[in-house]
Amino acid sequence: MSKTIIVSNRLPLSLNINQNEVEATPSVGGLATGLKSVHADGNGIWIGWSGLTEEEINPSLAPNVEKALENQKCRSVSLSEKEVDGFYYGFSNRTLWPLFHYFTEYSEFNNEDWETYKRVNQKFADLVIENIEDNDRVWVHDYQLLLVPQMVKEKRPDVKIGFFLHIPFPSYEVFRTLPWREEILQGMMGADLIGFHTYDYERHFLSSVQRLLICDLDFNNVLYDTRNVKVDSFPMGIDFNKFHNAAIEHSKAKVKSEVQESIDKHKLIKGDTQFILSIDRLDYTKGIAQRIMAFEHFLEKYPEYLGKVRLVMLAVPSRSNVPQYQDLKNEIDQLVGRVNGKFSEVNWTPIWYFYRSMPFENLIDLYCSCKIALLTPVRDGMNLVAKEYIASRVDNTGVLILSEMAGAAKELNEALIINPNNLDQIADAIKTALVMPEKDQIKGNIIMKDRVQRYNVERWANEFLVSLEDVVSKKPETAARAVKGKVEESIVKSFRDAKSRVLFLDYDGTLAAFKNRPEDAYPGDELFEILDGIHANPKNNLVLITGRDRETFDRWFGSKPYTLITEHGLWQKDGAGAEWNQLEQVNNRWFSVIFPILERFTDRTPGSQIEIKNYSIAWHFRRVDPVLGEARANELKNTIQPLIGNHSLEIMEGDKVLEVKVSGVNKGKASTKFLANLEPDFIIAMGDDWTDEFMFKDLPDSSTTIKVGNKKTVAKFRINNTKSVYELLRKFI
Ligand code: ADP
Ligand code: G6P
Repeated sequence: MSKTIIVSNRLPLSLNINQNEVEATPSVGGLATGLKSVHADGNGIWIGWSGLTEEEINPSLAPNVEKALENQKCRSVSLSEKEVDGFYYGFSNRTLWPLFHYFTEYSEFNNEDWETYKRVNQKFADLVIENIEDNDRVWVHDYQLLLVPQMVKEKRPDVKIGFFLHIPFPSYEVFRTLPWREEILQGMMGADLIGFHTYDYERHFLSSVQRLLICDLDFNNVLYDTRNVKVDSFPMGIDFNKFHNAAIEHSKAKVKSEVQESIDKHKLIKGDTQFILSIDRLDYTKGIAQRIMAFEHFLEKYPEYLGKVRLVMLAVPSRSNVPQYQDLKNEIDQLVGRVNGKFSEVNWTPIWYFYRSMPFENLIDLYCSCKIALLTPVRDGMNLVAKEYIASRVDNTGVLILSEMAGAAKELNEALIINPNNLDQIADAIKTALVMPEKDQIKGNIIMKDRVQRYNVERWANEFLVSLEDVVSKKPETAARAVKGKVEESIVKSFRDAKSRVLFLDYDGTLAAFKNRPEDAYPGDELFEILDGIHANPKNNLVLITGRDRETFDRWFGSKPYTLITEHGLWQKDGAGAEWNQLEQVNNRWFSVIFPILERFTDRTPGSQIEIKNYSIAWHFRRVDPVLGEARANELKNTIQPLIGNHSLEIMEGDKVLEVKVSGVNKGKASTKFLANLEPDFIIAMGDDWTDEFMFKDLPDSSTTIKVGNKKTVAKFRINNTKSVYELLRKFI
């Protein structure tokens, strides 16, 4: 039976060693708590880190560690103290976490940590690969493992891989500051489906992919190499029933927890006290300091509530080896001390502060006993606590005050939504919550509860996995077969068996990778060696067929014996020393109409460039911001379109280039003309863009036509990139 392999840094349980005994405690944090129920139900396995370093596990304890994990269907990746330092405390939590949460000033760029991150990601990927059986699918989670999808895909291209990011994906302007930004994106793009909590994170990611990997987007599908990668948002839910049922049980419970007893005792002494709850990991993204200051401001602004309102603040220790977390701990201690010192009365302290993890039952006690939940993260991927609070309000009373910066705010808009930096607004929201009539509380909570119940964690996981299934079964829209394995062998064999062959090779994007400026994509030694090798065999007719002008090709290939066809089929030269022969009669009198328009567009589109050829003008936008470039190219097309009919012109759309040229001149016509006096028994044509499609269409049916890259094509075959073109051509020597 096939299974799902969940991969995340944290396993659902964290192990500790206490007096030579292995202790397992449930992991805290949205990812582990959220996925626990998904894992518990299936027959899958969960791969992650146990929380112990190699140095901590002495050989006599190792079997107990294995047993504790095995019981929970978990496998652990073994990490040394040094690896945990560089990978977890280092690159994950000193570089990625702050950067992705817009704390750019906290983000450290340390090359050694990056190297460790790569190595540890490879360890995770290796363990995944070891555990894959036929038809399994792999679901990788979160920012600690951004490179794993690509590492697994490389070894197991047949396996379906999903990736979900549990934290925000920042805007391109922030993400671009990361020195290893391309590698990170490439790592993620190993997945077939990439999921985010919100549409905003999704569009930030797509914008970075478009700008940094220079990929084409088709709505939320990215054409990457020859694969289709789908990007979508799936807001994570919670195990609703677990919280809801526990809350029902809570109301019936006879034995009370310590926390509940303290709350009850306090209510007994001061019957009119209202409790405001806040729960998070102690993290600078959670806005804990802002929350305390806002509460202080509330007590100052509404002194009638002194002695009547208490903030119950629960913070779980987190990542305490990272300096900012230590500083935050000190800052919070001081702030709590200051506010309590300033306002405390004999029977009342304004803030109850717990710095520890709590068992599930105690969390439920708090969710049930506090009429207000105050969650003020300055950035938060989702914030499950908000949903847990709503699910635990059995009688639907209670008010949720929630930061607009939490992903959950997108779904819970009946809550009182606040800006976490606006202390006055938070103070007013507390006041509003305190006086809100019960019927209004219930009205809003029923709507939110219904949503939290319907879109629970199971539904979330299910929708993700169904969508993953769908992406993989949907192949790119083409019948073109990849040139590899048997297909490649058969092409090479037909070539070798033939007595006379013609090779039509496009230049840019086929024989030379694109450069920012067209003039920089000149041929290198490796290309000359390959072309000379092919040309040396008298059975071969080698034709370079390009949209470039003849001057450029003369400069680059003028001394070579191959045939050159330039400007999309306007000129032909049959080897060094021969004259250029004009294949079509055209003129360029229309330049004076079109050129000023192109010039105007170039002036207002930074990075664009005009290339004047003998009988055509090209407008290149490869160096323009991709989104702006596409928009301007469309605008330019619409501006020129009405003018070209009178001059028998056409607009050719190449790869990041628009070219205006005389109609009827194209590579299809030129290549068939070339074949007129030849009777080859093998024809091969390779090209990467739209202009090459003429050639693929017009050449005889028996020709081997190969599209370079993943765009739509009528070619029979497809090959990845320039590097793979070179590899194939070498087999023709
Ligand atoms: P994050 O993922 O950033 O930690 P979330 O709010 O999404 O934030 O998830 C936090 C999870 O950790 C919730 O499921 C919550 O119940 C749990 N949790 C938070 N604080 C505590 C605590 N003091 N003790 C136990 N569990 C906690
Ligand atoms: C967030 C992250 C999780 C992480 C959790 C707890 O929810 O998205 O990946 O596990 O915080 O942090 P920790 O560093 O203790 O794993």
